Amino acid sequence: MHRSRFCRYLASLIFGAATIGMLSTFAGASDFDRAALYRSNCAACHGVTGMGGGPVASTIIVPMPQLATLSQRYGGEFPADYVVQVIDGRRTLPAHGSRIMPVWGSFFDSGHTGEGAETSTRFLIDAIVEHIKTLQIE
Ligand code: HEC
Repeated sequence: MHRSRFCRYLASLIFGAATIGMLSTFAGASDFDRAALYRSNCAACHGVTGMGGGPVASTIIVPMPQLATLSQRYGGEFPADYVVQVIDGRRTLPAHGSRIMPVWGSFFDSGHTGEGAETSTRFLIDAIVEHIKTLQIE
């Protein structure tokens, strides 16, 4: 299969899974599950434990960053603001090259408009960041 077509196929798989994950998350709003939100949107690439090695990681040319070592790599403190910005992606431009990581800010607010949309987008991103914080290894 031609590479770019394969990438589109891959993207549709990931986004399909993400949508199902989000719907089931919203269905059970009372027992909101941050880990499930991470698993359905991020684990395919970054791995369930944040150590990389998700099923999609091997098909991507760039090395998959380990989310479990963020604190370690950022001077011993979890860089929450940085992580929020990377996930959101709408306001940050990559320093070089093209970004492989999906822009979740646009995805999470797709179909919604107005103030409420921004709040729920931020809510989902914050929930995932909270979960990544729990994955940090010493
Ligand atoms: C399609 C694969 C893919 C998916 C899905 C994905 N990422 Fe990424 N992520 C990457 C890649 C590749 C990079 C490295 C930067 C780049 O090339 O875009 C990255 C970089 C990052 C970084 C910066 C890491 C560092 O060490 O600086 C964070 C934080 C991150 N991703 C979090 C997430 C979260 C949270 C999710 C789920 C909402 C997610 N990613 C979903 C591929 C992915």
